[in-house]
Amino acid sequence: MTLGIVRASAPAEQRVALVPKVLSSLSKKGLEILVESKAGEGAQITDDAFREAGGRIVSGQEAWESDIIALVGPPSEDELDRLKSGATVVGFLQPLETPERMAQLADRGVTALAMELVPRISRAQKMDALSAMASLAGYKATLIAANHLPRFFPLLTTAAGTVRPANVTILGAGVAGLQAIATARRLGARVWGYDIREAAREEVKSLGAQFVELDLEIEDMQDEGGYAKALMDAKAKQQVELLVPHLAKSDVVITTALIPGRSAPTLVSQKAVEAMAPGSVIVDLAAASGGNCTLTVADEVMVHNGVQIIGHTNLPSTVPTDASFLYARTVSAMINEFVQDGVFQPNFEDEIFRASCVCHNGHIVHERVLSMIKS
Ligand code: NAI
Repeated sequence: MTLGIVRASAPAEQRVALVPKVLSSLSKKGLEILVESKAGEGAQITDDAFREAGGRIVSGQEAWESDIIALVGPPSEDELDRLKSGATVVGFLQPLETPERMAQLADRGVTALAMELVPRISRAQKMDALSAMASLAGYKATLIAANHLPRFFPLLTTAAGTVRPANVTILGAGVAGLQAIATARRLGARVWGYDIREAAREEVKSLGAQFVELDLEIEDMQDEGGYAKALMDAKAKQQVELLVPHLAKSDVVITTALIPGRSAPTLVSQKAVEAMAPGSVIVDLAAASGGNCTLTVADEVMVHNGVQIIGHTNLPSTVPTDASFLYARTVSAMINEFVQDGVFQPNFEDEIFRASCVCHNGHIVHERVLSMIKS
């Protein structure tokens, strides 16, 4: 079977789904690897590097005709037409955001494995692409905030006087949030973290940050999968109000709160932004899902009352070399798991396959995606 590595076509996407370092394990499984010329250019990986690792450099047309195709994002309309019936695609396919695209893949007879649906069980840790990318995003969000802030992060004592450390608040303390907290701490800021999952309190504190205590009177909001549950409307509104006084004292707010398959919860209102000092910075990592701040505009830097609100939607792509390496490790682990003797073998008995397979044999097989299409 052939495995195709294609050049990502989404605007500003610099990552590539597989890198030379992971090719030998895939070749050992009996796969012939076809690499679209310049597929790795955005991540500073040359065709020669792929060739030396055992890949064959081919045209985009040939790479898209492969039996298995490794992707960073979902195929565009044009790319859908290039897929052959019976092919398998593996990547971040955004199945819950664009279920209709999944129906198109099913109509083409494509088997689709969505990396964002890989379950968070120990056996699947090596395939946890979401965590790998979230970690990079949290790190980069903090650097961007530090870069935009017209103040220092650390306490600085000089002959001319002492500068107080910046107050940094991180809302949402999952993988991205914890990495943002750790990075802000390393840069010397005073850091607070907040989340609605009980388990997050100790994790925030273990990184040397303080936990923002809100008098919200809610039960633990963690579901069986480890993800957050959405707050009821009244509690969600109360949460936004209770956060205002704390945000008003923050020089930097980094928001990372997400609920899988829903638009991002609002945490920072216009009132909160207006309570912050001019020059303060908000980096909204949930911008691609609607934003945690009501004033966020995706891929723009908005300025409201002197507060900068930054809405990057693809921070991992701004660290494309390491992001591609980490992503490639997870995608190759996924492909390796289901290829035996050079043949891709769908296995619905396997928990990882069942959870991440969106369509197979012309049908949507993922219940949640199916229900979204029917509704
Ligand atoms: P995520 O990206 O889905 O959401 C980010 C954070 O936002 C989460 O911590 C969530 O609790 C928080 N959040 C949602 N609504 C909120 C609100 N209204 N107010 C404040 N915070 C809110 O989360 P991520 O980073 O993917 O982690 C989800 C869970 O999965 C965590 O429990 C994490 O520890 C767990 N996890 C488990 C792994 C494993 O077992 N292999 C690997 C990675 C994460």
